[in-house]
Amino acid sequence: MNKLAVIGAGYVGLVTGICLASCGHEVTCMDIDECKIDQLKAGRLPLFEPGLQELHDTNTATGRLSFTTNPEKAVQHAEGVFIAVGTPPRKDGGADLSYIHNAIQSIAPFLQKDSVIIMKSTVPVGTHADVKKLLDRTAGHPVRLVSNPEFLREGSAVNDFFYSDRIVIGSNDPSPASFVEQLYHSIPSPVIHTDPQTAEMIKYSSNAFLAAKISFINEMAALCEAEGADISMVAAGMGMDKRIGEHFLKAGIGYGGSCFPKDTTALLYSAAQQNITVPLLSSIHEVNRRQPRVFIKKVLDRFGSIEGKKAAVLGLTFKPNTDDLRRSPSREIINLLVEEGAMVTGYDPVVSVSGKRVWQIPLAQTMEEALTGADLAVICTEWKEIIDFPLHCYPLYMKEANIFDGRNCYPVSQARGLPLFYSSVGRPVYKGI
Ligand code: UDX
Ligand code: UDX
Repeated sequence: MNKLAVIGAGYVGLVTGICLASCGHEVTCMDIDECKIDQLKAGRLPLFEPGLQELHDTNTATGRLSFTTNPEKAVQHAEGVFIAVGTPPRKDGGADLSYIHNAIQSIAPFLQKDSVIIMKSTVPVGTHADVKKLLDRTAGHPVRLVSNPEFLREGSAVNDFFYSDRIVIGSNDPSPASFVEQLYHSIPSPVIHTDPQTAEMIKYSSNAFLAAKISFINEMAALCEAEGADISMVAAGMGMDKRIGEHFLKAGIGYGGSCFPKDTTALLYSAAQQNITVPLLSSIHEVNRRQPRVFIKKVLDRFGSIEGKKAAVLGLTFKPNTDDLRRSPSREIINLLVEEGAMVTGYDPVVSVSGKRVWQIPLAQTMEEALTGADLAVICTEWKEIIDFPLHCYPLYMKEANIFDGRNCYPVSQARGLPLFYSSVGRPVYKGI
């Protein structure tokens, strides 16, 4: 059991901190956002993540988990300090490291001499060396730093922590590396020990490759539409080849979230800095950037103009099982619909009930409310609540059941015989009206 601190109580920091406490460590999560810390101290999570609230409650009850805005209090007794602050994209596409620098400067004076700093935030390759210099300078003594990238997916982050495919530890010094390895002693995952820049590169390459699979299947989906093939079957057939793998071959309106978009552009930026041409990486980003507009073209092909049409947008988050709207493709879809003159109402199982105002559009509390009197429905997130809403119910509420499914939530066969128009991604269109 070790005394640990986590700097940055966002998605990655909170999941990491709370799950490490569940492994038996004593964890203090620190964040500069006082509201967030007050909420956490009051026992409420500032985000929606399945299974996390229960772990939070258990570990605060045992005293293994605490929260503070005070950097000294957070790190003064810590043997290990995780850095999990944001690394948002800059305008030029590079990763903004100012939060990392702020966090380092705020904790460095209070660090124990032999504590280990553990970088969880996604940082460009080569950041380790710069952060090490900053740490040694601001702490006034050599500080041990290890790269330990995260691979958590929102919506399944707790499971991903306890059953991760691998734990990556990047260090030039075996001693802090083995300290970090033993923190995960109760996690049955293989451990990769390597140098820091390789660890940083494993993170970026993994995200870029997953993004590549998505852009590839979306490109194949366009071909399927032209050839009359079915992308879902194509993906199933491809995925049976173990060299390809079945995961991340779901065609749709493109990838979003706080990681893939910013990590692919940050990698593009790093390549440009090194004068390395990366045409594949550029195409991954380009295919994804175009995908919402490719999808909206189906709507315009159906209606010609949607000026004054009532559109229900179903699913606002970038994926199901999270309340995260960051870089959500649904926002681009909504902007394009509004640009074309449609009157948009949004529905999302989590966001609608959160009381949040989202993107200046009215939010319906139920599917039925969103669909009532609508001329078209556009599905953007494959929430269970949406998948479980039978296709034959759409005509019961809509003025005319024109359904554009950006996440292939329903088998096309389910539309047969129904008075509706059903268009999706990479699959045959069903015209029942
Ligand atoms: C972040 C990064 O975006 C991602 O690249 C990285 O891999 C992991 O951490 P996420 O946890 O989703 O991802 O970020 P976010 O939810 O924005 O949380 C960051 C937290 O750090 C916020 O709560 C913010 O208030 C806090 N923060 C930021 C600090 O505590 N100190 C700072 O100086 C800056
Ligand atoms: C991702 C990585 O999966 C995770 O390892 C990393 O740590 C952080 O970034 P996350 O952004 O939470 O996780 O979501 P993910 O499940 O990867 O989905 C990202 C986007 O891709 C979503 O918008 C999702 O809808 C889309 N997606 C995913 C597809 O369009 N098709 C797929 O087959 C899979």
